[in-house]
Amino acid sequence: MSADMNFEMSPRLNQVDSQHEKYENLLIDRLEPGIVVLKINRPKALNALNASVLRELRVALRALGDDDSVRVLVLTGEGEKAFIAGADIAEMKDLAPAEGVAFSQMGHEVAKLLEMMNKPTIAAVTGFALGGGTEMALACDFIIASERAVFGQPEVGLGIIPGFGGTFRLVRSVGLPKAKELIYSGRRVKADEALAMGLVNHVIPAEGFLNAVIENHAKPIALQSASAVAKAKSLMVEFTEAMGLNTKVDAEAHAFGRLMNSHDQREGMSAFVEKRKPLFEGLKP
Ligand code: CAA
Repeated sequence: MSADMNFEMSPRLNQVDSQHEKYENLLIDRLEPGIVVLKINRPKALNALNASVLRELRVALRALGDDDSVRVLVLTGEGEKAFIAGADIAEMKDLAPAEGVAFSQMGHEVAKLLEMMNKPTIAAVTGFALGGGTEMALACDFIIASERAVFGQPEVGLGIIPGFGGTFRLVRSVGLPKAKELIYSGRRVKADEALAMGLVNHVIPAEGFLNAVIENHAKPIALQSASAVAKAKSLMVEFTEAMGLNTKVDAEAHAFGRLMNSHDQREGMSAFVEKRKPLFEGLKP
């Protein structure tokens, strides 16, 4: 049986106790309120991304994207040493050009699933996030780093270039000159420098790292209106593509208007006026 065939969707979606769905290389914990922690679980290879991990990520991200009980996804790596130490070098080393294209496309598909998912995604990075690791973190909506996080695009030192989106997502994140410097030199960047250049949103202590990400970063988002957050995300993703200003203004105005008279809009504004907490409906199927 292939790893993909092993997948089982849990029938108990909103349980407070965490549970693991069955993948060879992934661990999935579901926590209230609608927070999913997706861990790459290959610590012996520092969570390096081989084809098998990428295939499982593709299946899991599609399923989580379709699951309306999920409000926020936290992507992380098992173990303290690495988030993801890159694409699997041992697996890539003998690839023919056409196989290299296919491997890169597989990584791109996973990155696009993270980027386009209709719910927020947070990369929780502790330890090494190199090459494909930095690239997967960049495909998430934002990155929270532990003080032990290390980023970098070391591909040119392996005779290749970033292949999972680094040439455009790193540029988008830190600006062209910084991205050029990092990609040309392959040098590693520690958490503080990553914070200073805008690659990560926050650096927090390594002790209690994942709990702090869940409590202080995922939970506040999970308590908002999921449909409003999803709409804001889809617009921001669309706007970072090459779109003219008029198109952006028009798209935003229509999306804004369409949310009026929705359940969550009426509830959110009534709750404000009535000085109480809103009870949001969640994403409609
Ligand atoms: N691919 C495959 N295996 C990897 C790996 C990778 N990217 N990174 C680490 N590993 C494996 C090591 O081979 C080692 O395995 P063994 O125990 O079987 O020998 C194990 O993980 C532990 O690694 P190290 O012994 O090297 O640990 P270290 O603490 O000495 O060094 C490290 C840690 C600095 C992260 C180092 O492992 C390293 O430099 N890894 C490679 C990082 C890299 O170049 N990433 C980019 C890959 S290319 C890419 O990602 C292309 C793309 O854009 C798609």
